[in-house]
Amino acid sequence: MCSIIGYYGKNLAAPILVKGLEKMEYRGYDSVGVATKSENKIMLKKGVGKVIQVNESVHLDDLPGISGIGHTRWATHGKVTDINAHPHTSNSGKIAIVHNGIIENYNELKEKLVSEGFKFQSETDTEVIANLIQQNFEKTSNVKQTMMETVSMLKGHYAFVVIFENGTLAAARFHEPLIVGVGKNSHYLSSDVLGFIERTDDAIYIDNEDFVLVDDTGLNIYNFDGTSVKHQITKVSKEFADVYKGDYAHFTLKEISEQPETILRAGNDTQIDEIVRHIEDSKTLYITGSGTSYNASRISKYLMSKFAKLKIEPIISSELPFAPDSIENDSTLVVISQSGESADILEAVQIARQSNAKILSIVNHLNSSLSQESDVVVGLNCGPEIGVAATKSFTSQLAILYKITDRLCNGCMKPDWNNVSKSVSKTLENHSQIKKLAKTLKDITDIYVLGRGLHFPIAKEAALKLKELTYIHAEGIPGGELKHGPLALMDENVFVIIINPDDSTYSDTLTSANEIKARGAKIIGISDKKSDIYDYWIEIPRIDESLYPLLEIIPIQLLAYYSALEKDTDPDYPRNLAKSVTVK
Ligand code: BG6
Repeated sequence: MCSIIGYYGKNLAAPILVKGLEKMEYRGYDSVGVATKSENKIMLKKGVGKVIQVNESVHLDDLPGISGIGHTRWATHGKVTDINAHPHTSNSGKIAIVHNGIIENYNELKEKLVSEGFKFQSETDTEVIANLIQQNFEKTSNVKQTMMETVSMLKGHYAFVVIFENGTLAAARFHEPLIVGVGKNSHYLSSDVLGFIERTDDAIYIDNEDFVLVDDTGLNIYNFDGTSVKHQITKVSKEFADVYKGDYAHFTLKEISEQPETILRAGNDTQIDEIVRHIEDSKTLYITGSGTSYNASRISKYLMSKFAKLKIEPIISSELPFAPDSIENDSTLVVISQSGESADILEAVQIARQSNAKILSIVNHLNSSLSQESDVVVGLNCGPEIGVAATKSFTSQLAILYKITDRLCNGCMKPDWNNVSKSVSKTLENHSQIKKLAKTLKDITDIYVLGRGLHFPIAKEAALKLKELTYIHAEGIPGGELKHGPLALMDENVFVIIINPDDSTYSDTLTSANEIKARGAKIIGISDKKSDIYDYWIEIPRIDESLYPLLEIIPIQLLAYYSALEKDTDPDYPRNLAKSVTVK
């Protein structure tokens, strides 16, 4: 996914656009570019790399003009090159565009345009839109008509912002996020409130299949068939303005360190009561998510079957299109997502809707597409999460699943959240030992994470964090499966993290640790109980048996973070990834 932005106002556009792009860089950081209008000409600068780097070398924020557009890229079509970087201009050079999403029919549109004499510089699907708009504008000389004509020709999921040589901005939304910021004598168009939050907290969340025009007459919103749309200004909650690292070197470390507070703030009682009511009334229950959110959904299966005697089936969102009938009619689907914008979960919701399913969502962004698609929404309340690898959002998702399960079993679990928060703080004190271990792991190529029962989803999440942040091949293994294959991988070059708190899984997991040790592998034990089997023991506080998943992931988040520093990778913006992937 990419970030797109537009500004139309009284101030110089370029510095405002560059600042906004810096805030949204977690959406994609392969290349960056800005285009403005000055003296009835489109001025454009772009380059491969992060915003700060490219701005230092080509001075994006020097561009003149009080109207402009900008983009940070997560490459989908075409290599990471200057040519493929956005903005793209039309052949006449009188139109420039930035785009987030995928145009599925771009090849046939391109062939038609080429046959009508258009030339293409880049490998992107985006340049096709620029030339289509030029062609439609030359036919109508009317921006509104041009937009209606153009969106009627596009297939796929997209949001784009276009600037015309007279400075007019036009933008459209089709299943990709687009938000308008309303300033004093100015308007912002952005993929995320972060793009303009420093300048205004008045936002308009554009509905799907709407387009926007901004010019000297102000802001106008239409739906794709040209009907004018009334719009409502929403105040952006202040917590989303807190996008500063403070004294932390990276957002990832800041967000890991916020967990003692964020776990306490997870979910509010009214929303949780409402989701519990729907779950109690549900016929068949499913839960879905992507990446870390899917690992959180896995935990619910263990919790609800053990404590609430309820069957809930986790489904990987991106797999649902290949087994659409696996959700019976009138089922209930719980959807977990930090951003609420991942394309895979939104498609899973559409498929479930076709079977008349109820959609109950656990999400961080309350104005996201997922929230708009849901019957009930429970907010994570963990504030903006900038680090691409999810950390605090994961433990907030878990806390909400625990609160839901506890209500479903009429308080049979009674989690002591203050004690959980204190125990997380205690676990976070252990930086020095983990920093040292990260040095040891610097040159290893393979690491395995073992866990049984409730700890297996944590083993999966641990492996995901290590992959995302250190680029080390990491795999989460259910403890009992070790001897049915993975044991063949164990030798003196391998490290294995054993998630082994002193609970009902302890002795079986210790047996597995012995089998691994016998093959010469190095063992990192995560536990509240010391054992000679461990080459490295990372101690976690003793806590109620069912609550260990909320603790045991913390040292592994820290290990992945410090290993990333040892390996000189960027913990906040890992290569090839993006905070939430809004394309399939
Ligand atoms: C990936 C992120 O793109 O999407 C992961 O890098 C995240 O951290 C996954 O877990 C799912 O995102 P979301 O927003 O739907 O929870």
